[in-house]
Amino acid sequence: MTQGVPRHVGVILDGNGRWAQQRGLPRVAGHVAGEDALLDVLEGALELGIEWFTIFVFSTENWHRSSDEVSFLMEFCEELLVRRGRELAERGARLHFAGDLEDPRIPHSVRLNIRETLEVTTPNHRLNLVVAFNYGGRREIVEAARSLAADAAAGRIRPEEVDEQSLAARLHIPGMPDADLIIRTSGENRLSNFLLWQGAYAELYFTDVLWPDFNRAEFERALAEYRRRERRFGRIRDPS
Ligand code: IPE
Ligand code: MG
Repeated sequence: MTQGVPRHVGVILDGNGRWAQQRGLPRVAGHVAGEDALLDVLEGALELGIEWFTIFVFSTENWHRSSDEVSFLMEFCEELLVRRGRELAERGARLHFAGDLEDPRIPHSVRLNIRETLEVTTPNHRLNLVVAFNYGGRREIVEAARSLAADAAAGRIRPEEVDEQSLAARLHIPGMPDADLIIRTSGENRLSNFLLWQGAYAELYFTDVLWPDFNRAEFERALAEYRRRERRFGRIRDPS
């Protein structure tokens, strides 16, 4: 059986730095160029009726980059929220953030803007846009496990009651469905700690296109490939 439109698409936007280097520009120019790609793809996601769209914009490992690039990314994220938040809200997008937002390394004003955008877009339900920011999949699972352990220690749950559902209910965004399709640009064929739990059965789509060159047409190419895939979730092929 093939599929229609995926309910949840995850995207690892990658290749911004290389895009800039190829043009003799500083790495951050690639991040700037990636904005149009993102907005174009989001436009497509809204029109196609995709319910959940998760973008990996800053990983827990990205702190190891130069302090200039890290501060640029922080400011850029804030600026994007201010510049594009309202527009996305008007288009019916609800924003969510997945990741550790309490991290003191995140500037106060960034956290403030994140909180505001979350509030403004809460009533929306056309598209759930999840920004994975200071996010790591293993850490997300560890935090869920820690919360289960605390509940068990306090007698609120018995160890034998711990199951996939009770763990999933303690992930960053409890109502988030499993990812159906995960896209990664720039020719890297890895998940890099993205949606480890939610991506258990995701179809993976890798493309050599660098993120700033990605666009709605490339996104639709990924969706077409997804429709051709046969998803069996561990079952055998249907003989009919
Ligand atoms: C992805 O592009 C953007 C972020 C991780 C913020 P990169 O910055 O990883 O670009 P490359 O991989 O160095 O080309
Ligand atoms: Mg990269």
